[in-house]
Amino acid sequence: PETITVGELANRMAERSADVVKTLMKMGMMVTANQTIDADTAELVIEEFGHRTVRVSDADVEQVIDSVEDREEDLRSRPPIITIMGHVDHGKTSLLDRIRQANVVSGEAGGITQHIGAYQVRAESGALLSFLDTPGHAAFTSMRARGANVTDIVVLVVAADDAVMPQTVEAISHAKAAGVPMIVAINKIDKPTANPQKVRTDLLQHEVVVEAMSGDVQDVEVSAHTGQGIDQLLEAIALQAEILELRANPQRSALGAVIEAKLDVGRGPVATVLVQNGTLKQGDIFVVGEQWGKVRALINDKGDRVTEAGPSTPVEVLGLNGTPEAGDVLNVVETEAQAREIADYRVQAAKDKRAAAGAATTLQELMAKA
Ligand code: GTP
Ligand code: MG
Repeated sequence: PETITVGELANRMAERSADVVKTLMKMGMMVTANQTIDADTAELVIEEFGHRTVRVSDADVEQVIDSVEDREEDLRSRPPIITIMGHVDHGKTSLLDRIRQANVVSGEAGGITQHIGAYQVRAESGALLSFLDTPGHAAFTSMRARGANVTDIVVLVVAADDAVMPQTVEAISHAKAAGVPMIVAINKIDKPTANPQKVRTDLLQHEVVVEAMSGDVQDVEVSAHTGQGIDQLLEAIALQAEILELRANPQRSALGAVIEAKLDVGRGPVATVLVQNGTLKQGDIFVVGEQWGKVRALINDKGDRVTEAGPSTPVEVLGLNGTPEAGDVLNVVETEAQAREIADYRVQAAKDKRAAAGAATTLQELMAKA
């Protein structure tokens, strides 16, 4: 049957195991942090802590994901998070550049995106849009695998002179697997060799039926070079976002996902975090994956220092004790002791897992030799 240790349950809720033990005692159960409880008990505890259970599969109580239930009246609409995906060189970064009216491509080594850029843009209508630029799709996949499904909308960029390519197909399957709506941007329409109709018919073979082919996937012809169609693309995104009715609670403590992280010589560990719910503030104490920290500074996508970051905002976070990994979830907690305990627990759990995996290999090796 489904069980979970008290310690692991505490970890998943980002609560101290001592507090979970106490709650269980109140419920009449005498257990220690290492003992297991069943799924139904776990669910009661989760409710007791004001968290919500999300069981990815019924058979897997280990998938209990920490997520505080927000009250209806606290919810406010939030900007959509848009990931730009597509085949290499089809113009993802150029398109985002044009949208931002900046120039990132020329500053990149060899014009190849090395990391994920995260930017917030204000559309003409005044609506805020948050964009993620992806290098290939590895990061997107790893984030999804880690449960950090950060994207609301995928913009699939397909070059009109090249049509559907392997990474285009990959992007389509990622978007479908994540259940995220897609908008097709047929780029490089300025090129004499552009054949947007080929893009549309190619897409049909991958069960993407665009509006121009009487389907329900919005498609827009654009040129990152001339700027043609960019306004229509932003409109298409805004329309899709409206349908999604995206909301978050800016009042609660922050929950976010690491987009990228690095060890900076001057500043120490720095993580680009996309705030998914709540508001991240300077001075907040948090755990993020196996690391923890206290927000020393927040820097927005324009390089300016800010004191807080609300839902759907990408920010650089300084004040980490170590470098987390892309896809790690950030939770704000009450005290440093709590943050430390959860981070320590995770480090130990990861070690145990590696040790167990190592032991299994050794056993297998022994068996193979025998
Ligand atoms: P990766 O990050 O390497 O996957 O590439 P990318 O998809 O970000 O493509 P990028 O924006 O770097 O553009 C690739 C090349 O296509 C560059 O030489 C751009 O100048 C060119 N390009 C991008 N958009 C357009 C466009 O609308 N028209 C034309 N003619 N060229 C474009
Ligand atoms: Mg790029």
